[in-house]
Amino acid sequence: MSEWQKSDWRNKPRVQMPDYTDAEALKAVEAQLTRYPPLVFAGEARTLKERLGEAARGEAFLLQGGDCAESFEQFSADGIRDTFKVMLQMAMVLTFGAKVPVVKVGRMAGQFAKPRSAPTEVKDGQELPSYRGDIINELEFTPESRSPDPQKMLQAYTQAAATLNLLRAFSTGGYADVHKVHQWTLGFTDREESEKYREMAGRITDALEFMTAAGVTSDNNHALHTVDFYTSHESLLLEYEEALTRLDSTSGKWLAGSGHMIWIGDRTRQPDGAHVEFARGVLNPIGLKCGPTTTAEDLKVLMEKLNPRNEAGRLTLIARFGAGSVGDHLPRLIKTVQDEGANVVWSCDPMHGNTIKSATGYKTRPFDSVLREVKEFFAIHAAEGTIPGGVHFEMTGQDVTECTGGVRAVTEENLSDRYHTACDPRLNASQSLELAFLVAEELVARRDGGASSLAV
Ligand code: PEP
Ligand code: CO
Repeated sequence: MSEWQKSDWRNKPRVQMPDYTDAEALKAVEAQLTRYPPLVFAGEARTLKERLGEAARGEAFLLQGGDCAESFEQFSADGIRDTFKVMLQMAMVLTFGAKVPVVKVGRMAGQFAKPRSAPTEVKDGQELPSYRGDIINELEFTPESRSPDPQKMLQAYTQAAATLNLLRAFSTGGYADVHKVHQWTLGFTDREESEKYREMAGRITDALEFMTAAGVTSDNNHALHTVDFYTSHESLLLEYEEALTRLDSTSGKWLAGSGHMIWIGDRTRQPDGAHVEFARGVLNPIGLKCGPTTTAEDLKVLMEKLNPRNEAGRLTLIARFGAGSVGDHLPRLIKTVQDEGANVVWSCDPMHGNTIKSATGYKTRPFDSVLREVKEFFAIHAAEGTIPGGVHFEMTGQDVTECTGGVRAVTEENLSDRYHTACDPRLNASQSLELAFLVAEELVARRDGGASSLAV
């Protein structure tokens, strides 16, 4: 078989990608991106793969989260900081509560392109291309805004670079120091959740003070002062992905330079399609969304294509079936993985199978369904004796009202108050924290050998 080339996907059926009309303009942008530096380094992608290998074995836990779609308009330092902060809090709840190292991966610094259920949208008798994310076109319903513009890739690259720069600064520049555990609280998080968090932060501070008093100083203990934070996005717009793909000189392998981890969505996982063809050739950790329509046969072929050497940490299967449906699908896919003896991380995305339209017209997700899917995911792994390795959320540090429910009970009527997402509804900070406590409880139950119950 001939060597994989980063442009091989062009010979495969392409779905969910725009047809750019100005071929010259597209070529110019691709050429420019090809000259730009990659956003991540191959060594980082390899380290993440090792960490995910630990998650596959149950020695670590993957926390992946962030926007459904990053937006040009809402790009701000505060927005990045607040999402980072909630992820740190969630990770702390898991690390301290469940005593498990947490692999932190943001849906950030590159999550710009969106698959859509229909290629066009009709409003008042006018039909226009669907909005596909800020890297492709604009949300506004006019022919100019909806027409795909390759220049937007350059803006996405710049925003991703600036976002990653800030994330790196927060991760290593003192902000993420565990001694600051009290300061990560967000003013608006619900009292009950914040109280629970503050109480835990108090116990962490006690433990740190005890260590210092006992002579275990944290001065040169890197792990207490910094965090490892990785980036990820759906590898959807392959012209952009290809242009940022680089040959890693140490290993002679190809790196998708657009982010540490990339994933293949539920609508683009055709075993013979363009997206699988691209992902199979890069060294990064790969996520693969698995939905109700994923067949055992497809999964078998996909695991073989995406992880032929059966490396632990290379492949994360992100289950997104919907509350009430996990039992219909997860066991059969777990069986396929076991029959193949495949090494995978099993992660749970309780967002994409639980989207509904509210009576007030907003796309939303009932928080109860999100919680229920997570519980079902853990219960099935407990029953099968397999390892729940991570979770995947759409969330933000902003105080939005996009998903209904939670301790602070967002109602269908409240949805219009602060509904800011460019695409799918996200958990707000309070809901995210509530979910983290639930996941920690499930992990503790698993470690203690107690099977969790399917009842909600
Ligand atoms: C997403 O993660 O934003 C997404 C579109 O998910 P899925 O491919 O699982 O529908
Ligand atoms: Co989404």
